Amino acid sequence: MVHKVLLLNGDGIGPEIVGAAEEVLLALRDRFGLALELEHALLGGCAVDAAGDPLPEATLALARASDAILLGAVGGPKWDKIERDKRPERGLLRIRSGLDLYCNLRPALLYPALAEASTLKPEVVSGLDLMIVRELTGDIYFGKPRGIEIGTNGERVGHNTMVYSESEIRRIAHSAFGIARLRNKKLCSIDKANVLETTELWREVVTTVGREYVDVELSHMYVDNAAMQLVRTPKQFDVMVTSNMFGDILSDLASMLTGSIGMLPSASLNAENKGMFEPIHGSAPDIAGRNVANPLATILSVAMMLRYSLREEAQASRVEAAVSKVLDAGYRTADIQQPGMKLVGTREMGREVVAHLA
Ligand code: IPM
Ligand code: MG
Repeated sequence: MVHKVLLLNGDGIGPEIVGAAEEVLLALRDRFGLALELEHALLGGCAVDAAGDPLPEATLALARASDAILLGAVGGPKWDKIERDKRPERGLLRIRSGLDLYCNLRPALLYPALAEASTLKPEVVSGLDLMIVRELTGDIYFGKPRGIEIGTNGERVGHNTMVYSESEIRRIAHSAFGIARLRNKKLCSIDKANVLETTELWREVVTTVGREYVDVELSHMYVDNAAMQLVRTPKQFDVMVTSNMFGDILSDLASMLTGSIGMLPSASLNAENKGMFEPIHGSAPDIAGRNVANPLATILSVAMMLRYSLREEAQASRVEAAVSKVLDAGYRTADIQQPGMKLVGTREMGREVVAHLA
């Protein structure tokens, strides 16, 4: 079967990092027999410029017709002032919701070669391997009503709605327990049940689902404490499951444990494991077009795509092994540069990964 993969460069550094990842995919096709068909489409600010819509109908149609999607990143100052519905980020949220990609996996894995690159002490982070399971299509990101309106006293009032139904919580809980079962059978659910009813329900439903996974040890933690524990003793966690907004924040935090946000891939999956794969970092307009961005998070997203959507485990491991070898060989982009290491650009880093595929 030929895998149909859609590439969405997006904005800022997007074309550079996806370009590097595309070379890896092409090498897997040409040298290692991966049956692959690639397509490109527009998402984000570039789509606003070209088609007046951050998620053009044509892109959504191609996305629906493909087996997996690789996305760079969207957004930039150029589009920050336009009306809210036309902003690049809205395009991203609409494609996540349009394809029902509710299960977002954000692994934070510290490569041994990068133990010194983290701002935390090596003994705190070395050996770190945790998985954040973030709910991706609900919560305050999508809740209605929302908006900025004139209140009764004439001043403007902004409001959003944090909302979760039982079924939304149940399905992400099942995903998280399933993943915990394949790892170390430890799941920590993150909420703010001491204050917010929505997450009181979250805790109750996760606990109920947990009765079907008696082999997995379930714990609960408030999100403020979780943020603190993540920098204090991150290795106490194995799998964490949380809501859309808490997951957004905690995954940025967790990325810093691994040295750089430029290292973290993600998978966003629907119930059939069809998915979109993207680095968790943004479009970094400040360094766009300068060949300095780290493409490894995007290349590692390709590995996640091969594993979770295309079911090509051997190819996924091949990519991950190549990334490890490149880091062991001392190649570094600027964000992870350390004294004595070989500083390379985006393109060169991508080519080193290609050269180390075995
Ligand atoms: C992420 C990003 C997005 C989010 C933005 C760009 C809409 O921060 O994927 O974590 O908030 O989900
Ligand atoms: Mg984020």
